[in-house]
Amino acid sequence: MERVRAVVLAAGKGKRMHSDLPKVLHLLCGQPLLTYVLDALSAAGIARPIVVVGHSADSVRTAAGGGVEFIEQREQLGTGHAVMQALPRLEGGTGPVLVLYGDTPLLQPETIHALLDLHRSSGAAATMLTAALDDPSGYGRIIRGSSGAVARIVEEAEATPDEARLREINAGTYVFDPAALREALSKLRPDNTQGEYYLTDTIAALLAAGRRVGALLADAEQAMGINSRRELAAAETVMRRRILERLMDAGVTIIDPATTYVHGGVRVGRDTVIHPQSYLEGATIVGSRCTIGPQARLVDAVLDDSVTVVASSVTKSQVGEGTSIGPYSHLRPDNRVGRFVEIGNYAEMKNSTVGDYTKVHHMSYLGDATVGTRVNIGAGTITCNYDGKGKYPTVIEDGAFIGSDSMLIAPVRIGRGAVTGAGAVVNKDVPPGGVAVGVPAKVIKYVPADVAR
Ligand code: UD1
Ligand code: CA
Repeated sequence: MERVRAVVLAAGKGKRMHSDLPKVLHLLCGQPLLTYVLDALSAAGIARPIVVVGHSADSVRTAAGGGVEFIEQREQLGTGHAVMQALPRLEGGTGPVLVLYGDTPLLQPETIHALLDLHRSSGAAATMLTAALDDPSGYGRIIRGSSGAVARIVEEAEATPDEARLREINAGTYVFDPAALREALSKLRPDNTQGEYYLTDTIAALLAAGRRVGALLADAEQAMGINSRRELAAAETVMRRRILERLMDAGVTIIDPATTYVHGGVRVGRDTVIHPQSYLEGATIVGSRCTIGPQARLVDAVLDDSVTVVASSVTKSQVGEGTSIGPYSHLRPDNRVGRFVEIGNYAEMKNSTVGDYTKVHHMSYLGDATVGTRVNIGAGTITCNYDGKGKYPTVIEDGAFIGSDSMLIAPVRIGRGAVTGAGAVVNKDVPPGGVAVGVPAKVIKYVPADVAR
């Protein structure tokens, strides 16, 4: 089969968003709108789409990433004009040309396939995707002739009241025969209320030239184009439901889908239970048999199996098997937490490593700390890692017992099995087995070897 080329229009500003951000970069379930269209193409097996960029071209290029070609539309003179810019890249190709808009993120790869199949089997010069909407406002309406065949598309701005009442709309996804596309584009004139070259006018132009045009009816959801923040929120609801259904189908329990927010790229293992008011964002990976929430927020977090996170926030950190976090803890970026660790109420951690079976409870702060295995961090313990100018490390070796309210003035090292007394202000290293008490802390004795942890 001849190679399919795809052209994705993403040059517009998106005036109706009232935003500094170009429309196709607005986020839907954490991902730019445009990337959904590109993902659908790639899932449909269509390689190297041509993305037409214009407004904020550089940031759109960055978001689109690799595996695509870019072409610039310097002035945004309409969707027809945008496709004209891609024509030089389509030179010589005889396979069908798929045209999509970068603001239709709910389109599914199966629908792209179905549209291409219909186009190939019907031998039409163009095949377009339509949908029947309860509220068609904002979309181009499909005008069908007495035979029921498509006659033209009328944009809302040009529609008569009768035409505006039609519920069948143009979904903005088309397949063209390349020669027919070239010819039809050459006939476009910006003679409408917007002064734009409408791609939609190619349909009437093809029919006038005696060519055939086909149409495939999609479900209303997939046809959604995002022009406003209201439409963005409506699409978010649909996409969120799709993501949650995919997780549930793969064996994840979601207690309340209405209050669970998961980004598209998140992976969750089976038999994990997600409780209400939880947010799983970015590149988060959750293992099997975990308990997430209520009220958990995971951002780029990597959780091994059987981890519990209740009413806590974990950002860009790794958490080992069987570890329990919260309620009310905050793991800021770059922590590595071992297996079967307990991170308790009101604990904060930043850029720290914690060994297996260690306990970090009650209102403590670990920053730039390396904590060994089976350490007990007492209530209110603070690693004083910042002196107003620099950040300094704290090392707490295996089996150490840090008494409540200890202040560990970094840089400092607490040796293996050492103990600090309640309220100790430790500004010097404590040797292995040393018991340090007071302000500033002094080593008063050593833990007898037979009780050393
Ligand atoms: C368009 C269709 C309308 C259809 C709807 C489906 C036209 C004239 N109208 O209207 O029939 O029902 O989509 O969602 O095509 N773009 C460019 N360059 C431009 C103009 C637009 O790249 O010069 C891009 C935009 O970035 C956007 C896409 O094309 O991603 C569609 O443009 P938009 O202005 O949103 O068209 P609609 O008014 O929604
Ligand atoms: Ca649109």
